[in-house]
Amino acid sequence: MSIHTALNTLRPEASQAPESGIVEVFNYGRDRAGLIPLWVGEGDLPTPAFISEAAQDALLAGETFYTHQRGIPELRQALAFYHARLYGKPFDAERFFVTSGGMPAIQIALRMVAGQGDEVVVPTPAWPNFAAAAEVGGAKVVEVPLTYGNAGWTLDLDRYFEAVTPRTKALFLNSPCNPTGWTATRAELQAILDFARARGLWIVSDEVYTRFYYEGERSPSFYDVAEPDDRILYVNTMSKNWAMTGWRVGWLSAPPAFGQVIENLVQYSSSGTPKFLQRGAVAALDQGDAFIDFQRERAEAAREIVCSGLEKTGRVRLVRPAGAFYAFFSVDGEPDSRALALRLVDEAGVGLAPGDAFGAGGAGFMRLCYLRNLDQVREATRRLADWLAK
Ligand SMILES: Cc1ncc(COP(=O)(O)O)c(C=O)c1O
Repeated sequence: MSIHTALNTLRPEASQAPESGIVEVFNYGRDRAGLIPLWVGEGDLPTPAFISEAAQDALLAGETFYTHQRGIPELRQALAFYHARLYGKPFDAERFFVTSGGMPAIQIALRMVAGQGDEVVVPTPAWPNFAAAAEVGGAKVVEVPLTYGNAGWTLDLDRYFEAVTPRTKALFLNSPCNPTGWTATRAELQAILDFARARGLWIVSDEVYTRFYYEGERSPSFYDVAEPDDRILYVNTMSKNWAMTGWRVGWLSAPPAFGQVIENLVQYSSSGTPKFLQRGAVAALDQGDAFIDFQRERAEAAREIVCSGLEKTGRVRLVRPAGAFYAFFSVDGEPDSRALALRLVDEAGVGLAPGDAFGAGGAGFMRLCYLRNLDQVREATRRLADWLAK
């Protein structure tokens, strides 16, 4: 049997896992000289030195051994203090579980609640990794398209709830949303929680962009409406707030009663997050508030440059996002986002992500990540506007 035929002997959930549509364009244009890369979801700043130094000190001090599966106590405590500051109420350190990034937090959440034959309901457009990971695990993803109108993107809650069947195990929600910037109101979160409670459903709440919110210090959260023991798995990461995408440190927040289950799932996957990296995360949580404020202000200024610049072209349909750091827009006369993304690499020198990489609801849209220095954001906007004017 050739090695290619052997591909057919793999689990179909693995061999048929979709290639990321974002990575395809990225691979196409990654080495272009002078290209401004706005395709992936990260900023241009390296991790602040005080965070890196804490990790470096720990590494040099020999913190190189196997570590706590739930995370080092100091980091779980730092997470509890950070949440207490942000949400204005006490948090139990026992509810925080350190993971090797936001994506592994999603993986563990999925392993806990949805396997073969189960369904999860996902509003789209959405960052594709949740749905792909659910399917690799054997679960079925039921997409509920957000509605796009003059007021921007909205989630029709009746539609969301109607998508639930007897096989549904979990509702997935990402607010603020990558890529649309849609952000649930407190009332919407309350309605979703009431529904999930009534039906005995889990909620997987991805709140990684909560600090990138342009109408306050943070977006509304399930923490505002839920009890500590509600069936909610909160996914979060050090990646975005503290410019730590390459570190691969995140966290899951869950009722402490699930601690042993989560510990086991960490053991049988990553077996824990390197201790010296966790020391960096402690420094970030304890001393990183000013850096987050700086990033949010910069993102807000960039949002203005991009949105007003593209609106002026008259060829773009766009609504200013309430949260996250992406402009998600369609271009008149350009329905094929994948083809447009490839052309913009060649003809405008700007790397964008094609909207259809984010589920059916994203077809015809483009995602632009604007978390960068403002000169580059201005230049990218100028290049796009010039290209659109041709
Ligand atoms: C909505 C959402 N959730 C989770 C993640 C994953 O974060 P991490 O890089 O820590 O795995 C991302 C990253 O882009 C994201 O956009």
